[in-house]
Amino acid sequence: QDSPRRSTGQSLSVIKCKAAVAWEPGKPLSIEEVEVAPPKAHEVRIKIVASGVCHTDWTFLHEVGKTMNPQPFPVILGHEGAGVVESVGPGVTKMSKGDKVIPLVVPQCGQCERCLNPKTNLCTKNWKKTQQCLLADGTSRITCKNQQIYQFIGISTFSEYTVVPEDNVTKIHPDAPLDRVCLLGCGVSTGYGAAVNTGKVESGSTCAVFGLGAVGLAAVMGCKAAGASRIIAVDINPDKSKIAKTFGATEFVNPKDHSKPIQEVLRELTNGGVDFSLECVGNVGVMRAAVEACSPAGGVCVMVGWTQMGELTLVAEDILLGKSLKGSYFGGWKSVEAVPKLVQDYMSGKLLLDEFVTHRLTLDQVNQAFDLMITGKSIRTVIKM
Ligand code: APR
Ligand code: ZN
Ligand code: ZN
Repeated sequence: QDSPRRSTGQSLSVIKCKAAVAWEPGKPLSIEEVEVAPPKAHEVRIKIVASGVCHTDWTFLHEVGKTMNPQPFPVILGHEGAGVVESVGPGVTKMSKGDKVIPLVVPQCGQCERCLNPKTNLCTKNWKKTQQCLLADGTSRITCKNQQIYQFIGISTFSEYTVVPEDNVTKIHPDAPLDRVCLLGCGVSTGYGAAVNTGKVESGSTCAVFGLGAVGLAAVMGCKAAGASRIIAVDINPDKSKIAKTFGATEFVNPKDHSKPIQEVLRELTNGGVDFSLECVGNVGVMRAAVEACSPAGGVCVMVGWTQMGELTLVAEDILLGKSLKGSYFGGWKSVEAVPKLVQDYMSGKLLLDEFVTHRLTLDQVNQAFDLMITGKSIRTVIKM
């Protein structure tokens, strides 16, 4: 691999490096040489070491980005990464060159109304701009062929270097293995937190988890950590049965093996419904099934899988009689403070991460990682830069 070249001898100069650019929606990513500008005030430039490939990268490329106005293309995807601080802009005090860090899909500024509210983790700092795939000042730090390249969620980990706002990064343990803890930047934290923070899964309870990608398997792990006694893993891919049990599932059900709707199958299996159900697919039909699989006696359904497609239809009575429906974003974690603790939990053996990594590829092979995910062959591919 080429080592990045600096255009001048100074430390804060433009870095030329390799990145996977999505020039337009629906097309394969293309490996290009890009220019990464120095960090501005309250920004951090990171040498990305490893990045997981999450379903949301694919969804954005094929669905969401197409409908945005303006379309944020060309864009560099990737938001589940880990790396080392290369340089910091003026005003950055919480980290410095050489620190190991994880970029965050949700910031934690610590000062906004949301950060001060224990009920939510949705910090409002830079939110609008990063959702538009830009940094706080409305521009990006990456260019290619004289064009500004959008930064997915203000992050862009499918690049050897990137620049992110300081509140969207957290410093982690110096011994953390970056090619595994990168998964805490999105999928694993999302699923695990959905069970332990949002759902508040109880000891001795019966749970159902729909969709066994990294998000769903992490939710299974969360249910187990919370002491659930039955964890029913649900997926249309029969190959997911074995791995679900690795993470603590006690049973596996494939909706395709049954003529009845899955919610009926689950209600029959559980004497009327589960205490907690977690939807980790991102499909409104599955969300409805997850609600209907819950027990009328206070069952809780947590929506985790992301979608902007379609509307969710429910039978009003279902909720009126006492079930609850909750949404969870990034597992409800207050990101800057929680992610380093999750890293420690992995390092002390409390949290599994290695088991999620089924494939390891290089940045040039990133399109292969999408194929592996879409065909159900991978749980997580980790891209080593
Ligand atoms: N019922 C049950 N499982 C399903 C169904 C269905 N109708 N449709 C798909 N699945 C399963 C797939 O077989 C796969 O195992 O859901 C799983 C999804 O896993 P991944 O594609 O690996 O996705 P993951 O990265 O875990 O993300 C899941 O969370 O963050 C969001 O955008 C992300 O919506 C996606 C979801
Ligand atoms: Zn905030
Ligand atoms: Zn993600």
